[in-house]
Amino acid sequence: MENTPTVPRTETGLTYGEYLKVPELLSLQQPQSEPVHHDEMLFIIIHQAYELWFKQILHEMESTRESMRKGKILRASHTMKRVHAIMELLVKQIHILETMTPAEFLQFRDKLNPASGFQSLQFREVEFLAGLKNERYINAFKGQPDLAARLKKRMEEPSLRDTYFSLLRDLGYPMPETVSTGLREQLDANTESEEHTQVMTSLIEIYQNPDSNLALYLLSETFVEFDLQLDLWREHHVRVVERSIGFKRGTGGSSGVGYLQSTTGRRCFPFLWDVRTYLKKDAAVW
Ligand code: HEM
Repeated sequence: MENTPTVPRTETGLTYGEYLKVPELLSLQQPQSEPVHHDEMLFIIIHQAYELWFKQILHEMESTRESMRKGKILRASHTMKRVHAIMELLVKQIHILETMTPAEFLQFRDKLNPASGFQSLQFREVEFLAGLKNERYINAFKGQPDLAARLKKRMEEPSLRDTYFSLLRDLGYPMPETVSTGLREQLDANTESEEHTQVMTSLIEIYQNPDSNLALYLLSETFVEFDLQLDLWREHHVRVVERSIGFKRGTGGSSGVGYLQSTTGRRCFPFLWDVRTYLKKDAAVW
């Protein structure tokens, strides 16, 4: 045993397993099927891995919001870059489930009923914290008051979109007062409105000549990237769902593929997409 390396302990005396709570983590995969179906382990682990990454994404988004509040624009971009790196991974990760045949999934699918990704609190928190808030989704947690309260708090607190607009206002860009209070709905209904014009005027200034405020331009683009990655996830998820269960109803009670398809294209930062339409050819470029 002369060549066997001794495992160094840290100053605090913690081992790898103790620090990361590996035994606890590995005790959390508890299949419901009996006898246990081989693929149920994959199904549980992939969802748990998503939930861990959602936790990290929320952590980084909260930090982004705090940086924006303090006017630290580059710091905010930095944390959003990490969010993108995680989201890229999450888009790819869903495809691991395609190694499970549709028939095999059916062997244990009824055991999940009525559990569904629809009840992922953290996924909804990511949407709400970004700016895509919808009170209707709080109802999904009416049997779990703690979770409903957590989502309600997200509903009421400033989102990244709200904080981004406050930042623009602090920097002297004109912003309508309604900007944090459901402006999106008003704007969707009426892109000819005075508010829409005012927001576009501010954003055009940034986007027509990024050099005029490069840090702000780069931060704005991190939010566009966020929307893009979220939408890619939605698209990949719905295709994997169709490949797996076809047009069967979801365990969460929705129509399944039809419902999921209707969520694609939802945007947390619609104005940053709109502004492209208004840019002109003859303006300064870098
Ligand atoms: C074979 C694999 C999967 C199937 C068949 C499936 C199926 C579905 C269906 C049918 C819905 C609609 C709600 C319902 O009625 O249940 C849904 C929603 C959802 N699923 Fe999955 N899913 C799968 C994998 C995953 C994975 C790995 C995640 C990762 C967290 C996930 C997260 C979600 C989320 C967050 C929603 C809510 C989407 C929204 O309301 O916008 N799903 N899923």
